[in-house]
Amino acid sequence: MKIDDIKQVASIGGGVIGSSWTLLFAMRGLKVYQYDINEECIQKCVENIDRNLKSLLEFQAVKEEEIETIKSRISYTTSIAEAVKDAKFIQENGPERLPVKQSILAEIEAAAPVDAIYASSSSGLLISDVTANAVHPERCIGGHPYNPPHLIPLVEITYSEKTDSANVLLAKEFYQSIGKEAVVLNKECPGYIANRLQLAVYREMIDLVMRGICNAEDADKALVYGPGIRWAIFGHNMIMQLGNPGGLKAMMEMLGDGGDVWLADMADWKHMPNKEYGEIAQASVDEMIRNFPDEIGHTNPEIAKYRDKMLIEILKLHHKF
Ligand SMILES: NC(=O)c1ccc[n+]([C@@H]2O[C@H](COP(=O)([O-])OP(=O)(O)OC[C@H]3O[C@@H](n4cnc5c(N)ncnc54)[C@H](O)[C@@H]3O)[C@@H](O)[C@H]2O)c1
Repeated sequence: MKIDDIKQVASIGGGVIGSSWTLLFAMRGLKVYQYDINEECIQKCVENIDRNLKSLLEFQAVKEEEIETIKSRISYTTSIAEAVKDAKFIQENGPERLPVKQSILAEIEAAAPVDAIYASSSSGLLISDVTANAVHPERCIGGHPYNPPHLIPLVEITYSEKTDSANVLLAKEFYQSIGKEAVVLNKECPGYIANRLQLAVYREMIDLVMRGICNAEDADKALVYGPGIRWAIFGHNMIMQLGNPGGLKAMMEMLGDGGDVWLADMADWKHMPNKEYGEIAQASVDEMIRNFPDEIGHTNPEIAKYRDKMLIEILKLHHKF
């Protein structure tokens, strides 16, 4: 199969991630079949897509006259067979549970064209586990997006030993053709790249708060107005390059063993204190939300809308919109 053969795609599971992928596919001119398990879930998916389109319109990321054309490219169905029968690329966005992913894949394989690419949105499962019982593991990859996929460019591609390397390349080319920044992992690992980087920072943030060094609000502020704002432009290797006229290598030499003192004091625990930290940090986050200016909002949907508006502005600077 060639990239130009991918004109019709399927999105299996239309929750937060599936509805966002579907919107992106339709915005990029593809015909999409959206599957979900029942009419109620389909209705929620339609509402997600309408709400996201409304925000895109409000933030001038789509034009009014494009909206109906985008919507007309999407068909909804409660039959997986109907969704995948003519699809050349299948993005699976079902619940993050291995047996469920495996049974969805079996249903897909029973009806999909044999050369259709299967890509799982899984946030951290190994694609070799998801496809352990697959009839055609050679066409299966992991295609992990960042939420919301219709805005955030990253997709992380993983593959198993049984995946055909031509299909990895094809998936990468396909994602790039719809505006994604695709990275391919050379080896499988739980959590992939981006979520592991995120968790490493979050472990330290939790530790700082739990040790009373700062509160959750100041930890967030230090991240957003310090490294975070630079990371929206360049990755940390490039930031290191810019830290010294001699580049990254000279910067590493300059830092010497100084980082060892910090590392010795930093969090290295292996069990997430989810319950304890949830109790400590929620009150602080609720307080932050109360104190936000009205422009940002005071409820999760209002704040998410503000996030999307800011994301679009940043993406415009990156020439991604
Ligand atoms: N939410 C995130 O931030 C995020 C980010 C990246 C990847 N992911 C991954 O994307 C996938 C979907 O996550 P989500 O946040 O959209 O979850 P969600 O709960 O919002 O959506 C899951 C959807 O799957 C549907 N579903 C349930 N059983 C199904 C079945 N047997 N077959 C097909 N669909 C079924 C549900 O009705 C629902 O619409 C997960 O694998 C998750 O790990 C999530």
